[in-house]
Amino acid sequence: MSTVEDLDINPRIKTSLKKVGLTTFGQILTLSIQDIQRLAKLSQGEVTGVKTAIAQQVVCHPNITALDIQRGTEKCPKDLKIVKLSTGCQQIDEALRGGILTQGITEISGESAAGKTQLCLQLCITVQLPREQGGLSGGAAYICTEDAFPSKRLGQMISFFKQRSAEHQQVAFGDNIFIEHIPDLDALNSCIHQKLPHLLSGGSVKLVIIDSVAALFRCDYELKDMYRRSKHMASLAASLQQLSSKYCLPIVCVNQVTDSMTGTVKKTIPALGLAWSNQLTCRLSLSRTGREVDLPKRTLSGALIGGFSTSVRSLEVVFAPHLPNITLMYVIDQEGIKALT
Ligand SMILES: Nc1ncnc2c1ncn2[C@@H]1O[C@H](COP(=O)(O)OP(=O)(O)OP(=O)(O)O)[C@@H](O)[C@H]1O
Ligand SMILES: [Mg+2]
Repeated sequence: MSTVEDLDINPRIKTSLKKVGLTTFGQILTLSIQDIQRLAKLSQGEVTGVKTAIAQQVVCHPNITALDIQRGTEKCPKDLKIVKLSTGCQQIDEALRGGILTQGITEISGESAAGKTQLCLQLCITVQLPREQGGLSGGAAYICTEDAFPSKRLGQMISFFKQRSAEHQQVAFGDNIFIEHIPDLDALNSCIHQKLPHLLSGGSVKLVIIDSVAALFRCDYELKDMYRRSKHMASLAASLQQLSSKYCLPIVCVNQVTDSMTGTVKKTIPALGLAWSNQLTCRLSLSRTGREVDLPKRTLSGALIGGFSTSVRSLEVVFAPHLPNITLMYVIDQEGIKALT
């Protein structure tokens, strides 16, 4: 519907507009009221009426607020909804309002054994699920910089994940994860500027994980090179942001923590400092609480074969554009990461 013929206005006005060739909405909207008055010999009130009638036809979105878009409420049109990637745990997804943002860089920081790699492995599985199940229907690129990729642990997680639903049984989750081992920053640069764009342009990879960014920057730069290091980090983060926006996918970067002294109080803060933090869209911080719980150990078929004691961990949203600062407790078992209920 885009011609004056479709408007519910006085037929005399329609005829006047058509006589001078003003037939489409585009023509009428791009001319000023005075120009249309002069050309079609209409009054100011009549032309304003025509413009208002057109505006009512072309406005297709109801009044929505930024909060509606941010929260993805029912009022938010589908094309404006911000897609999230499920973490694989319903309670964690609910706390994160759907999961990991599919735009920008999400950092997962935390001490050793906090569960950073476990969460990343879980995302490599969930990303392969269809949209309606919280995935992005694509594979993952996993860039390892420190330890070897934990293939055995991924295999275990996949086996347990497949038990959750009959339709997952036939999916070869392990075949859609592209692993790259990176020994230094030069290799990371060439991976991000050459290999990764090539891989992402194929459209089958919908998640990029770097585990971890801190290790390379810590090793390759000395303390006196801080300025150069900051510039390098900013340019790397900018390239990652560009990839995220071009291919509409989440980039997840793992970061370690360092000790910081405030007076006599010692606390841990994410490594790499402000130059890196300023480039992030969202920061999640994982840590071990020191509290232990006993969890059951089961076979793939669900039979109980014993138990084990594990640390209760916490996941804190340090900052995110769509979330308040919240903390929730979780544990890691054979299946992966799950909220403590
Ligand atoms: N099969 C499993 N069953 C139960 N818990 C497991 C299993 N595999 C790993 N974990 C738990 O996960 C922890 C390791 O988590 P993860 O590898 O994610 O740490 P991380 O935060 O990546 O640490 P780092 O910074 O050293 O890489 C182990 O300490 C253990 O508690
Ligand atoms: Mg790790």
